[in-house]
Amino acid sequence: MSLAVLKSRALAGMEAQEVSVEVHLANGLPAFTIVGLADTEVKESKDRVRAAIQNGGFTFPAQRITVNLAPADLPKESGRFDLPIALGILAASGQIPARHLAEYEFAGELSLSGALRPIRGTLAMAIASRRYGGQCGLILPVDNADEAALVADAAIYPAATLLQVCRHFAAHSSDTMLVRHVAPARRQLRPYPDFADVKGQFSVKRGLEVAAAGNHSVLLVGPPGAGKTMLAVRFPGLLPDMSDDEALQAAAVLSLSGNFRCDLWKQRPFRAPHHTASGVALVGGGSLPRPGEISLAHHGVLFLDELPEFEQRVLDVLREPLESGHITISRAARQADFPARFQLIAAMIPALAAMPVIAMAAATARLTRSAAISAVSPARYSIASTSRWKWGRWIRSHWPIPPAAKPAPVSPHVCRRRLTANGNARANAIRHSRRASWNSSAASSRVAKPSCIRAWTSSSGPDAPITTSCA
Ligand SMILES: Nc1ncnc2c1ncn2[C@@H]1O[C@H](COP(=O)(O)OP(=O)(O)O)[C@@H](O)[C@H]1O
Ligand SMILES: [Mg+2]
Repeated sequence: MSLAVLKSRALAGMEAQEVSVEVHLANGLPAFTIVGLADTEVKESKDRVRAAIQNGGFTFPAQRITVNLAPADLPKESGRFDLPIALGILAASGQIPARHLAEYEFAGELSLSGALRPIRGTLAMAIASRRYGGQCGLILPVDNADEAALVADAAIYPAATLLQVCRHFAAHSSDTMLVRHVAPARRQLRPYPDFADVKGQFSVKRGLEVAAAGNHSVLLVGPPGAGKTMLAVRFPGLLPDMSDDEALQAAAVLSLSGNFRCDLWKQRPFRAPHHTASGVALVGGGSLPRPGEISLAHHGVLFLDELPEFEQRVLDVLREPLESGHITISRAARQADFPARFQLIAAMIPALAAMPVIAMAAATARLTRSAAISAVSPARYSIASTSRWKWGRWIRSHWPIPPAAKPAPVSPHVCRRRLTANGNARANAIRHSRRASWNSSAASSRVAKPSCIRAWTSSSGPDAPITTSCA
């Protein structure tokens, strides 16, 4: 047989579309051609595949080899097609039996020695394979197996080398066949950084609780060293646990960019891009669209530290996804839709020169006066919009706050008690309760800003005040 057809998948936005890898061997001068809108990495696979086949002890056919990656108008990138191309050549040249190849989908980058290297986007592949591939098994590099196995019922067969995959198809005994991967037992979730580490700053903590309850954006304004970053990093710990669906969506986006690790499963993402980030880095893009920071922060937190340092054009691109919760990247050849339901936390120092930027940030982050008032009044806790009601209820059930016309001053004791309700804060809160509290004593002068919950100015340090605005 001089023709072999194998199945693989190419990434197109959040989707992993099916790709047929067709390998044909013809007589003529030895040549190796790959067609089908293959990117540079795919074209470079010629050399990797040749070396892997030879180092695996097989013969690289001295014939005219044509590899077609269909459909021809779908761009293909990365080294994920190395494994199916190598197997196709071996099957077409009769070195391995081809009869069971159609029962599997393949992906994996080959090293010159024939070892399989991990690829990105295996979670999206496993989801698509489960949805459209029916009972197809998925043969993947070992390093990607745990990630792909997060998809319930996916038939994952991990392999360490090309030789192991060849043995699987040539197998006469079950000893040499690949074993279906069993998903590892879900480990206990890693605790988030603990809010109880933050001494004082009770009004800000309260503002963040309100923001977590109502899914509001937050702008933290305070002098350097006041603890803005420290508070923002601890914010994901206030949010409710992720559901399975949310965790899978967030993991699938992270997997597309190669950022997913299994120990991050069900951890709300916290993304903090540097202020030199471009618009494309933030919202995603590229000729083959890739997710940006807002999508990588899906169901988590996007933290923009030093907000005024970001270019205004860059901040402007956030406005639309903040409203809609997703972003459509359109390029001449391709469109891709990425989810982007994130919670925005921004931080800045209270420089006068930055005031126009506060106004702009207020527009970007929807920091409206009425929302700020709702944050100030505990009685308005319950008047969250329908979609936000769930979180409001969750926070209220954990930290019941008596209705009052004005927020009562929160004593360190009360605040600690509220924080202990957050499971991972308990141990530290107990520890800190034995220490002298860094009570917030600074109340010198109020910064002129209508939408602030509390505004203090004082020297920097743990007692330094931070202005918090919620929207
Ligand atoms: N309220 C606080 N409680 C405990 N440590 C604090 C507090 N505020 C600041 N710190 C300490 O100061 C360091 C600097 O804080 P950071 O969050 O980076 O400040 P900012 O982002 O406002 O410039 C923190 O890593 C922490 O060690
Ligand atoms: Mg900081």
